[in-house]
Amino acid sequence: MHAITVSDPHAGLAGLTLTTQPHPHAAENDVIVRVHAAGFTPGELDWPGTWSDRSGRDRTPSIPGHELSGVVTELGYGTTGLTIGQRVFGLCDWSRNGALAEYVAVEARNLAPLPADIDHTVAATLPISGLTAWQGIFEHGRLETGQTVLIHGAAGGVGSIATQLAREAGARVIGTGRPADRETVLDLGADTFLDLDADQLEDAGEVDLVFDVIGGDIRDRSTALVRAGGTLVTIASPPSLQPENGRAVFFVVEADRNRLTDLALRLRDGRLRTILGAVRPLAEAPSAFNSPGRTKGKTIIQVAEGN
Ligand SMILES: NC(=O)c1ccc[n+]([C@@H]2O[C@H](COP(=O)([O-])OP(=O)(O)OC[C@H]3O[C@@H](n4cnc5c(N)ncnc54)[C@H](OP(=O)(O)O)[C@@H]3O)[C@@H](O)[C@H]2O)c1
Repeated sequence: MHAITVSDPHAGLAGLTLTTQPHPHAAENDVIVRVHAAGFTPGELDWPGTWSDRSGRDRTPSIPGHELSGVVTELGYGTTGLTIGQRVFGLCDWSRNGALAEYVAVEARNLAPLPADIDHTVAATLPISGLTAWQGIFEHGRLETGQTVLIHGAAGGVGSIATQLAREAGARVIGTGRPADRETVLDLGADTFLDLDADQLEDAGEVDLVFDVIGGDIRDRSTALVRAGGTLVTIASPPSLQPENGRAVFFVVEADRNRLTDLALRLRDGRLRTILGAVRPLAEAPSAFNSPGRTKGKTIIQVAEGN
């Protein structure tokens, strides 16, 4: 089958290459999915699972792209809960091959049924961003109605969903981003927009939760904004600073079939939207992810057409 692979941990995005790979094997409780659409987050290339298996052994060439939407074509030994021909979407295990390929083997429990009226390209924008936003805001951040949350990168994949979820939960939302993101962020439901190029971060005042997707200096300076008992959640990298009287949490998103099902229903009901960017074929994935300049929305690779 055709797939995008990476072999050199130092090559960055330039290492994404179209190759031919063996058809995947369905292990116990796995399904094989014919991939219709797949997403990719550049941060994956820094994660250990891209380069080694769970025993720490080199597993290159590896196939990146760990969120997908597609159709089940095979069941592994003992697999229940999903059926051949079923539309599904979800996350692949970080230390196995991903979905920038025609077929992928995934543990069935990492996938959720996809309603018939959600397009595969839209569904593929949801697993990583949706689960990360939910887990960051509510599970690690413990955000409650009436609290204030500062969401960095609020126009991006994860931040745009976090903004909508936090707003719907009755929190006061301060979204940050580039100057051009103002309208998008306010339109997603943020009460206030903070332009990280022009405004002072400190203007946000004290907040119950900082949800950071950017890291570095912006994350470190945000630590001081966390009020006593509050939390800084970051998905960029482990934080070097802790809030004085609060917690700092870094986490990697986990699969969750029930939450995916809930997010898909929100999407279908119009309570949640994702920002779909360019849709490109598999062979163009290397150029799509290497294109210079800013692109709006999540780039999705369409591997197969149809429903
Ligand atoms: N730990 C986890 O489980 C996990 C899960 C998902 C994602 N991630 C990581 O989280 C990060 C965000 O993911 P994403 O999919 O949301 O990315 P994204 O769609 O690119 O969103 C990031 C947003 O932050 C903005 N931004 C970045 N640096 C900025 C700065 N200095 N000033 C103002 N705005 C800035 C970006 O603007 P521009 O586009 O203009 O730069 C973009 O709007 C990535 O590094 C990804 O690898 C981690």
